[in-house]
Amino acid sequence: MRVGIPTEVKDHEYRVGMTPAAVHALVQAGHQVLVQEGAGLGSGIPDTSYREAGACLAPDAATTWSEVEMVVKVKEPIRSEYDLMQRGQTLFTYLHLAPLPELTDVLLRKEVTGIAYETITDAKGLLPLLTPMSEVAGRMSAVVGASYLQRGHGGRGTLLAGVPGVPPGDVVIIGGGIVGLNAAKMALGLGARVTILETNLDRMRFLDDIFQGAVTTLASNHHNMIAALRRADLLIGAVLIPGRAAPKLVTRAMLRQMKEGAVAVDVAVDQGGCFETTRPTTHSDPIYIEEGVVHYCVANMPGAVPRTSTFALNNATLPYALALANKGVRQAVLEDPGLLDGVNTYAGHITCEPVAESLGRPYKPLLELL
Ligand SMILES: NC(=O)c1ccc[n+]([C@@H]2O[C@H](COP(=O)([O-])OP(=O)(O)OC[C@H]3O[C@@H](n4cnc5c(N)ncnc54)[C@H](O)[C@@H]3O)[C@@H](O)[C@H]2O)c1
Repeated sequence: MRVGIPTEVKDHEYRVGMTPAAVHALVQAGHQVLVQEGAGLGSGIPDTSYREAGACLAPDAATTWSEVEMVVKVKEPIRSEYDLMQRGQTLFTYLHLAPLPELTDVLLRKEVTGIAYETITDAKGLLPLLTPMSEVAGRMSAVVGASYLQRGHGGRGTLLAGVPGVPPGDVVIIGGGIVGLNAAKMALGLGARVTILETNLDRMRFLDDIFQGAVTTLASNHHNMIAALRRADLLIGAVLIPGRAAPKLVTRAMLRQMKEGAVAVDVAVDQGGCFETTRPTTHSDPIYIEEGVVHYCVANMPGAVPRTSTFALNNATLPYALALANKGVRQAVLEDPGLLDGVNTYAGHITCEPVAESLGRPYKPLLELL
């Protein structure tokens, strides 16, 4: 198969669809990979690395898109890329089609096979291509929170580690999933006292086991949350109810009970956020202060560390890209129901039910089309 890797063009997107190692794996398997010149620079990967891995370099986006059967990207195509898509092409990337009727129309009109990273499932029903970004965002949340606790950054001037004779700071994490676990790891590493509020008792047992009692797990209810918020120096929002907007677990009135200069990082901001006071911010203007609490609510946190994020994403996407290239889309999805879940558009139809529902469009099961 001929596979194309264009440069990402979305604002402030520095990741790239394939690393040289992934390109090498595809080339070893007998495929041709065309990488747009400069595609890896945002992630610190020079063109020479791709050439050494066996890729051919294309001078521009038009060439990269026009000469391949499958395009591997990071973000959904934006308007300037619509005309570049080829009829019947396969597009393997984050798509997030539910709020994007215009892009969906282009994919349907051009009969593009749109395979979305975010809807691929694994044997446990989890979302394996979202996990790496939750790991990145979770680990970042403790680090950025610690940084904004500095007085010069608006925080209360607490060093999370404390020092001999002065107690460490308190980190309170709401939601002990992938983000929460990774936030806890980092916060513990920084020397903080860590509390995780969860609703899932089995998950709390798991967290208690792996942290061997080093974190406190608490049932997530109003009473426990108020008590935890009052002592928190750093609050991290990490809840998810799959497919739904995040519940507003921390109201403005609850936030008022936090210490002046405490920091609140709402990682769940991409699902609307779990604090009433959350509004999305950007890497160029990441914080604001409400009720005396510094809020950090950046919706694409992994974008700040594109190098790590690119490599983490590729570790998860490569097996699927290889299966698609080796077997072709039809055979690959017939053999892997999790990959089949990733196919959002096929032969001019929407083949992902939640996307069709969100857009109010007809849904066609993929198996009826294959
Ligand atoms: N801002 C970013 O850049 C960024 C990056 C990656 C992920 N995210 C977001 O972070 C959020 C968490 O992702 P994840 O991968 O950790 O999800 P996850 O499903 O692994 O974990 C969510 C956890 O929240 C728990 N939960 C649900 N309701 C709760 C409640 N009322 N109280 C306490 N816990 C509750 C669940 O039991 C689960 O363990 C998602 O909204 C995700 O989209 C944001």
